[in-house]
Amino acid sequence: MKKILITGGAGFIGSHVVRLFVNRHSDYHVFNLDKLTYAGNLANLTDIEQAPNYTFLKGDIVDAAFVDGLFAEHRFDDVIHLAAESHVDRSITDPLSFVYTNVVGTANLLNAARRTWQDDLPNHLFYHISTDEVYGSLHNPEEFFTEETPYDPQSPYSASKAGSDHLVRAYYNTYKMPVVITNCSNNYGPNQFPEKLIPLCIHNIAHNKPLPIYGKGENVRDWLYVVDHARAIDVVFHQGKPGETYNIGGFNEWRNIDLVRLLCRIMDRKLGRPEGESEKLITYVTDRAGHDLRYAIDAKKIMHELGWKPSLQFEEGLEKTVDWYLSNTEWLTNVTSGAYKHYYQGQYESR
Ligand code: NAD
Ligand code: DAU
Repeated sequence: MKKILITGGAGFIGSHVVRLFVNRHSDYHVFNLDKLTYAGNLANLTDIEQAPNYTFLKGDIVDAAFVDGLFAEHRFDDVIHLAAESHVDRSITDPLSFVYTNVVGTANLLNAARRTWQDDLPNHLFYHISTDEVYGSLHNPEEFFTEETPYDPQSPYSASKAGSDHLVRAYYNTYKMPVVITNCSNNYGPNQFPEKLIPLCIHNIAHNKPLPIYGKGENVRDWLYVVDHARAIDVVFHQGKPGETYNIGGFNEWRNIDLVRLLCRIMDRKLGRPEGESEKLITYVTDRAGHDLRYAIDAKKIMHELGWKPSLQFEEGLEKTVDWYLSNTEWLTNVTSGAYKHYYQGQYESR
């Protein structure tokens, strides 16, 4: 059985990727390495935690000695690297954490993988998960991000992700390490930490709290259901060409204000409120510093070359997401109160 290391598997996207690999690929033993920061939550994985082909490893990718030791012990065959500090607003107040985890952490993983694989490099794959934010902001409505769009990161978060992408490419060019990178648009769906726009608004609507819209709400994001992203990662892992980049997105652009209004209408219906009730919670607040205007992914390469396409229409995915949050109030209460940390971190620290 081959061994795959998935980093950041207790987070939002990582947990969906871990579940998919554990359930679909019995030829792999899945090792989930996660530091369990505020964003990591093992409650995301209770359904697969007893699976025979799954092991959780708690640890910090910034700790080079720890990462080296882990590779020496387990000799992973392949890596899918998702662990990161992921929230743009946090990167504005605390940029260094993003440099450590996203840049140094990625470098540590690349180094350990190179050392472990040096005698048979072509038999391995280092798959790095990145973001469309590295391309910067689009201002011409006709334009899309393609794999050839030059990098132009604007926030400390996107700059740190761009730095990690460059390192991964450098390992391909310099050491011939087989690597692949995907740059995906905004994800939404179950298990997303409620600091991000969609779960934050679902939580606040349910609790009659203000819905903070940065600036005029005219910024555009391109949304993809998280399970469709996990499916794309599976396809790229198995069929992607080493050295290549693939953009992932659903051709699904929304202005923030229109998206929040749609969410309000869905929530009114689900909560039995009069139409228009939740929209009254919309509150315009000071804009995010350096707020990118528009992201839009051209996903034709992955669609044409690897045959992937999204399975869900946006309204359908949003309904599923709302239903998940409304029927998992305990998950939401635990993450907003921080209660899950005490239980899960205590459990693993004592081992
Ligand atoms: P997340 O914040 O929900 O999860 C990140 C996970 O990484 C958490 O479980 C956290 O505990 C872990 N982690 C953080 N620092 C670590 C460290 N030093 N060592 C080990 N583990 C650590 O993030 P997400 O939204 O699931 O994003 C996952 C990846 O996908 C990131 O690389 C992100 O840049 C990328 N991405 C995210 C989106 C999106 O819309 N969320 C879109 C495109 C790409
Ligand atoms: O594009 C991919 C990126 O999408 C990922 O790389 C990031 O990890 C992920 O966090 C996400 O970044 P965004 O900054 O686009 O996501 P966020 O949910 O924070 O914000 C979405 C949009 O909504 C953005 O234009 C800012 C705005 N916003 C956000 C919040 C949290 C608000 O207007 N109000 C809010 O309270």
